[in-house]
Order: sequence, then structure tokens, then C-alpha cells
Amino acid sequence: MAMEETGRRKVLVEASVEQATTLTAELVKSIICESIGTKKSCNIALAGGTTPHGLYQRLAATVASGEVPWGQVCVFFSDERDVPHDDIESNYRMAQRTLLDHVPILPTQVYPIRSDREDLDSAAGEYEKIILEKVPAEAGSIPTFDLILLGMGGDGHIASVFPNTEAMEETKKMVMAYSVPVLGRKRITLTLPVINAANNVLLFVTGQDKSNAVANLLNDDPEARKNLPAARVAPKGNFFIVLDNAAARQAGLRAE
Ligand code: 6PG
Repeated sequence: MAMEETGRRKVLVEASVEQATTLTAELVKSIICESIGTKKSCNIALAGGTTPHGLYQRLAATVASGEVPWGQVCVFFSDERDVPHDDIESNYRMAQRTLLDHVPILPTQVYPIRSDREDLDSAAGEYEKIILEKVPAEAGSIPTFDLILLGMGGDGHIASVFPNTEAMEETKKMVMAYSVPVLGRKRITLTLPVINAANNVLLFVTGQDKSNAVANLLNDDPEARKNLPAARVAPKGNFFIVLDNAAARQAGLRAE
């Protein structure tokens, strides 16, 4: 493993996707156990997309060991597509099939974003109310997730905060629904204020196609970072960036 530490940000590189997935699973387990050890509770938000498939399957596989006290974990979502929960594109469906159906967690501990609603704006407002009710604010007024998992697109988007969009500039709402021009679709997403209030943010990125965005993210050049949503992630707590060699290549990082 290669590591680069800058303040609360730790960049961790493993040679292969499998090794990066193992490292990420270990980090997730230790963050959950640490939170439950100190607060008897843990509020996490899951990333969508395809990168976390292997991670969630790995976490599900540990259930026999009892390493993770899932009964004390509440699961939220970092973002959701404008599809019903049984749609193949649904982040909720993906998490259900790879993780939630395989761990001892009650449906009452899982808070899907109601993307099956006609009115996504009201679904976003409803989700914000649920977060305000269920996730305590530890310092200041913004609910403090113990862990927010994120992936990153090749354009540097995180959750559904896309470049050149109103979501990049949102400073008040914690959850917003908006039309994403590059997708021609609506998305519902956690916003940067609530992401940056988290005790731990874990950005898990693999693959050659993300290498340019990773290099811009890790680059100190403000120009390279200017319109990169991932560069706006600066959590109050720990910021872990876990990469495989393919994603880290253009940033000049490599694990042997
Ligand atoms: C989503 C995700 C999104 C994802 C990136 C990377 O709903 O798609 O929340 O932010 O993490 O697009 O997606 P992949 O993991 O599929 O490359």
C-alpha cells in the first residue's frame, strides 16, 4: 500500500481493485465499530454506482464473523436516481441486493430516498427532514453522519453533485433534487454542507477512466480543482481517499 497524508486527508493506494476493496471494507468496519463503541449508534450514507458493488459484497461476507454490529447501524444514501426502487438503475436496489439483504439489519434501520415519488423536490425535502430527525448534529447545526461513502465520476462528480451545476453552489439545503444537464435526468443528492459535516468521508475510486479526475483532485493547482465537485469535499472529520493503481496513475501514486 502507498499512503499520502495531508492534514485530515489520507490518500491510500493499493495495487489492485481487490486489494483496494479489502482496504475500504476494513476502513468501513473500523469506522462503524468505533462509532458504536463510543456512541452506541452509527449513521452511514452509502454510495451508489457500480464501484461499491464489490465493497458491499465484501461487507456482507463478513456477517458470519459478527464483526459489524449491524443492529446498531442506520443506513442512508448519498444520492439516488429518478427511478423506482425496483429499477436496475436504483442505488437502493443495488445496495439491497449486494449488502442489505445479507446483513442482520431491520428495514426500520434503512432510509431509502423516495425517488419513486412523482415530486422529487418534495421527496428531497422529506429526506432532509428524516436526516434532521435521525442524525444528531454533533457540532453546529448540521446533522453529523459517522460515515459518508462516495464514488467519483470521470468528471469529478461525487454523489450527484455534478460540475457546473446548482448543486456545486448549494450552501443551505442538505438534500436537493435538480435536473442534471449532462444526464438529461433529475437526481436527488446529499449536498456539500452535509457531506462536509461528516465525521468520516470515504471516497473509493478505481479504474483507469477515473485517473485524470483523481490527478486533478490531488493536484494543488486551483485551476485543475476549480470545477471539480470532489475537490469541494473537505469534511470536518477524516477524509479517506482509497484508490487502486489504475485510478492513481496520473497522480503519480503507485502501490508495489
Ligand atoms: C451514482 C453515484 C455516483 C457514482 C459515480 C461513480 O448514483 O452513480 O452516486 O456519484 O459514485 O458516478 O460511479 P461508478 O462507481 O459507477 O463509476
